[in-house]
Amino acid sequence: MTQQHLTLTYERLHSIEAFPTDEQTLIRAAQAACHTAYAPYSGFWVGAALLLANGEIVSGSNQENGAYPSGLCAERVAFFQASSRYKDVPILKAAVVAYSPQSGKHLPANPCGGCRQVMVEYEQKQAQDIGLIILAEPEVYYRFERVQTLMPFGFVADFLKQA
Ligand code: THU
Repeated sequence: MTQQHLTLTYERLHSIEAFPTDEQTLIRAAQAACHTAYAPYSGFWVGAALLLANGEIVSGSNQENGAYPSGLCAERVAFFQASSRYKDVPILKAAVVAYSPQSGKHLPANPCGGCRQVMVEYEQKQAQDIGLIILAEPEVYYRFERVQTLMPFGFVADFLKQA
């Protein structure tokens, strides 16, 4: 038996102004996207914005449904939209924030497991890192160099080749 240790590296930033300009723009796009959420059941609005290699910003928000599992998270709305609108244009960076219409405040929201799974596959497909910025604590952003960091030991499409 050998004991292994895993180290995750990320940056903590306490304000939008601490980011470079392109990332500030991306965070503000994610904030704006929150307001397009359709979330009548949770009242929890999530916005995601992606910066693509062609300079486009593609954003998405959570879209709920009365048949609950039919809804989709903001991250997947954004990633699927980017991939279907701009096939094979690499995604450079993503920002994710949530918002409470009740309090009028932005909220922490770490991506769920399903969204991590989807983001990692796009990162592997394009063989290029996708930087990820999330509002992870009240007023504190976490910045990851690649989404893979959030999904150690995940299921990857390569496993299917062994079948
Ligand atoms: N949600 C997202 O949009 N992204 C996540 O990563 C986690 C959760 C949404 C789904 C649902 O509409 C609401 O937040 C409450 O779970």
